Amino acid sequence: MDRIKLHDKFFRPFIPNDRIESAIDAVAEKVNLDFEGCEDIPVVICTLTGAIMFTSELLKRLRFQCEVSCIKLSSYQGTRSTGTVLTMLGLTGDVKGRRVIICEDIVDTGNTILALQEMLLAQGAAEVRICTLLLKPDVYDKDVKLDYVAMEIPNAFIVGFGLDYDELGRQYKDIYVLDQ
Ligand code: IMP
Repeated sequence: MDRIKLHDKFFRPFIPNDRIESAIDAVAEKVNLDFEGCEDIPVVICTLTGAIMFTSELLKRLRFQCEVSCIKLSSYQGTRSTGTVLTMLGLTGDVKGRRVIICEDIVDTGNTILALQEMLLAQGAAEVRICTLLLKPDVYDKDVKLDYVAMEIPNAFIVGFGLDYDELGRQYKDIYVLDQ
């Protein structure tokens, strides 16, 4: 893994793909433990665009029937959270009376997850669970329970495995951190 340059910034290798995959194996087992054998059909919601890789890897490991929907929210500009969560693309399916598993790339301040949970409950979801690839525990300050967390990282800006810096860097299979 080499250093990469995206726009004006350099990023250095941080989490190799094999560690990401093992963390997804483990978190998928926890989801399976709770949902395998269920009689309802839960809806897995991919939060575009950052969670595309995580959602596809998680889905391959799930051993119960589920539907998949997408939603696109935005709160980040460059390397910082703006604090305002905007809906860029509305939910592609119906969640009324359904159990929902939100699939998120990273929980930072928690603004996105809080807004999304409120939105889904307002649309009549029976239950909302959160499954995130990454969590920055030093920044997260909301009361929303994070049901499934694959990995925790320090408060640093990262890219790769779906995560971007101003729309670049999503396609890397490894995760890189800002090299200051
Ligand atoms: P929150 O609303 O502050 O929890 O931020 C969540 C969203 O911000 C994520 O879904 C990402 O799109 C983005 N984000 C947060 N931290 C990072 C990062 O380190 N790199 C890239 N995007 C990030």
